[in-house]
Amino acid sequence: MAFNHKHLLGIQSLSAQDIRTILDTAESLSEISSREVKKVPILRGKTIINLFYEASTRTRSSFELAAKRLSADISNFSKATSAVVKGETLKDTILNLEAMNIDAIIMRHASSGSPHFVSSFCSSHVINAGDGTHEHPTQALLDALTIQQEKQTFKDLKVVIVGDILHSRVARSDLYLLKKLGAKVVLVGPPSLVPPAFKKYGAQIDYNFDRAIEDADVVMMLRIQLERQKRIYFPSLSEYHELFSLTPQRFSRAKHDAIIMHPGPINRDVEISTDMADSAKSVILKQVENGIAVRMAVLYLLLGGKEREITD
Ligand code: CP
Repeated sequence: MAFNHKHLLGIQSLSAQDIRTILDTAESLSEISSREVKKVPILRGKTIINLFYEASTRTRSSFELAAKRLSADISNFSKATSAVVKGETLKDTILNLEAMNIDAIIMRHASSGSPHFVSSFCSSHVINAGDGTHEHPTQALLDALTIQQEKQTFKDLKVVIVGDILHSRVARSDLYLLKKLGAKVVLVGPPSLVPPAFKKYGAQIDYNFDRAIEDADVVMMLRIQLERQKRIYFPSLSEYHELFSLTPQRFSRAKHDAIIMHPGPINRDVEISTDMADSAKSVILKQVENGIAVRMAVLYLLLGGKEREITD
């Protein structure tokens, strides 16, 4: 399987074939996590830095576990306990870490484009684990793996993404990926949080959730990103909940076999009711499980693992 990229900075720079290669590789690697000994020597000797300038539960832990399951050495860096608090710049931080002969940097940062900046001067592989409001490529890939397992195809699938689209790197990466694989994507939320500019990427836009959810195959709910909002985008959380929360009544308008997704963290009873988040239709924890396989695949493809070693 050819994958000719040094870095994974976003979905926009991947072809549909690149995405299929990552998903196929993730499917092959996923069984390692169900073995009694969850470890193969594919990346033995490789050193990875998990560089997180923003909080994370899922992405950081699953990259760490993915690296360990492939036998790489991984070191966790968090902004709060680093010399960043003493004023060290991003560039100096990277140059100092690279002086320790590392092979890859997994990076989350509040500034859009920061992994692209880092990739312009460092010699390590750079993997974007979420940059500002720009992209979150491995989230889109694990979402795609989950949809593929549940629906088998992307062609003409109706995927409704609901919430704070404006500030969501997940919505952007999902939109780019799903359009490359042939799905129909409808973005839903208050007009202040769903800019018409997304139409140029092939999205349909609807400000009425009850209408948009009709015949949906996949309903993906997003959190309101209060930490990124610079002004008031809607009158109150209770009004937002009334119009844009996923409730059983609303979900009954989707296809009978529709699935519920959410990248997490969820805010129960704000964008999704507890009974929907925990329902049999919810694949939210399946998404988290698939995060390990997708991140193993990305590390394997970028850091040059040999295919024959998967079965070792
Ligand atoms: N989905 C996601 O990126 O979750 P974390 O912020 O916990 O990594």
